[in-house]
Amino acid sequence: MKVDVITIFPGMFQPLLDYGITHKAIDQGKLNLRCWNPRDFTTDRRRTVDGRPYGGGPGMVMKPEPLTACLDTVQLETTGPVIYLSPQGKQLDQDIIKKMSKLSGIIFLTGRYEGVDERVLQTRIDREISIGDYVLAGGELVAMVAIEAITRLIPGVLGNDLSAKNDSFSSGLLDYPHYTRPKIFKGIAVPDILLSGNHNKIQTWRLWQSLNRTRQRRPDLLTD
Ligand SMILES: C[S@@+](CC[C@H](N)C(=O)[O-])C[C@H]1O[C@@H](n2cnc3c(N)ncnc32)[C@H](O)[C@@H]1O
Repeated sequence: MKVDVITIFPGMFQPLLDYGITHKAIDQGKLNLRCWNPRDFTTDRRRTVDGRPYGGGPGMVMKPEPLTACLDTVQLETTGPVIYLSPQGKQLDQDIIKKMSKLSGIIFLTGRYEGVDERVLQTRIDREISIGDYVLAGGELVAMVAIEAITRLIPGVLGNDLSAKNDSFSSGLLDYPHYTRPKIFKGIAVPDILLSGNHNKIQTWRLWQSLNRTRQRRPDLLTD
């Protein structure tokens, strides 16, 4: 899968290249992650990417010309929806991540300052996605969150593809509790059923745990 990110801080994405599941997916050739800096598409000596807002007021706005020139180049190299990370977008969830993971390409546009000139959004953006009802200084962390969540769902990236199927939200429920050695820790024993070797009973126990947790912690998931 090709993921292209437009950002004035491409260095922020280095950890995705160096660590964890994204590093592994890149190594396996399953993820092609590239960053594009709008500053490289400016025409002035100072490489300006922001301007003062028309109408006055605080802060700066990302200028349309470098962003659209950057997008023009990116779209020569890849296809896929252009997603602007914005607090005003639809809230990111596992369903959106699942749909994104099935695409062959996706382009994330990350804003900074007060955001992006509205005309870029009107003419070049397919969708706006938010990480939640709070405001960050930029879209980079949101893009990184989405990229890691998407990468987990690319077939073959996780050691066992079943892991993702059992995860919270994948089946509409929260995940069941997990235990590993030792059998007793701080006086708390691993539930006997998990040591029984009876896989049918273990499955039933896990489903019951998932349902119970979902009812207690996220009843909204059961009514949606
Ligand atoms: C300081 S914010 C601008 C917020 C904008 N003035 C507003 O209130 O809608 C700068 C950039 O951070 C990113 N951003 C901030 N909060 C976000 C959120 N909750 N979800 C997605 N992106 C966010 C966006 O890319 C945005 O352009």
